[in-house]
Amino acid sequence: MIRIMPSILSADFCRLGEEIKRVENAGALHFDVMDGHFVPNISFGFPVLKATRKATDAFLDVHLMISHPLDYAKRFVDAGADQITFHLESESNVGATVAQIKGMGCRAGIAIKPSTPAAAVMPYVQDVDQILVMTVEPGFGGQTFMSSMMDKIRLLRSLADQINPNLDIQVDGGINYVTARVAIDAGANVLVAGSFIFDQENPAEVIDRLLLLDQEYR
Ligand code: DX5
Ligand code: ZN
Repeated sequence: MIRIMPSILSADFCRLGEEIKRVENAGALHFDVMDGHFVPNISFGFPVLKATRKATDAFLDVHLMISHPLDYAKRFVDAGADQITFHLESESNVGATVAQIKGMGCRAGIAIKPSTPAAAVMPYVQDVDQILVMTVEPGFGGQTFMSSMMDKIRLLRSLADQINPNLDIQVDGGINYVTARVAIDAGANVLVAGSFIFDQENPAEVIDRLLLLDQEYR
């Protein structure tokens, strides 16, 4: 089963409550936190996550594009995160960060940037709930999907089939109807989409259509 996670980075923040309702059929929200250091952009943090938590029962998927995720994980869990995915390339100890997140009863994921090989994250496949294979350079919405990342997804999916069959493989960046299909074919089952969903007149319909892609495989 695939899941669609609308990235609220592309939402209209003046009307965040309404925007959250417009995509509620996804049952999940992707929440991009940027610190202006790990990536050359700054987005939002705890107060916005807390407000979002109050406004919805949706699964809150937090993507930390920050240099020191270990230092902040607890505060994101307290603010309402259901899952925290941090970058392998961050400055925190990877094993300690996974242990800290899971120890608080939160799902843990590790993200890799386009330049990071799949092999770098393989030692952690057994220990995490999700691997995020970035399909754009982290930092900005609206970029073009990098299909060259699909080989990494295939490698990680075949390893997960052997040692962690429940692993979610998430893609983030440049998702639309065409690239969603490419990513699912490669073995991804969680698709983040920002501009493609929020730029539409009827985002709920886009989500339903993306979810239908899954049925074509049955
Ligand atoms: C990029 C973020 C993405 C972004 C995706 O750094 O991690 O979640 O919102 O946006 P689109 O779907 O527009 O590429
Ligand atoms: Zn993201």
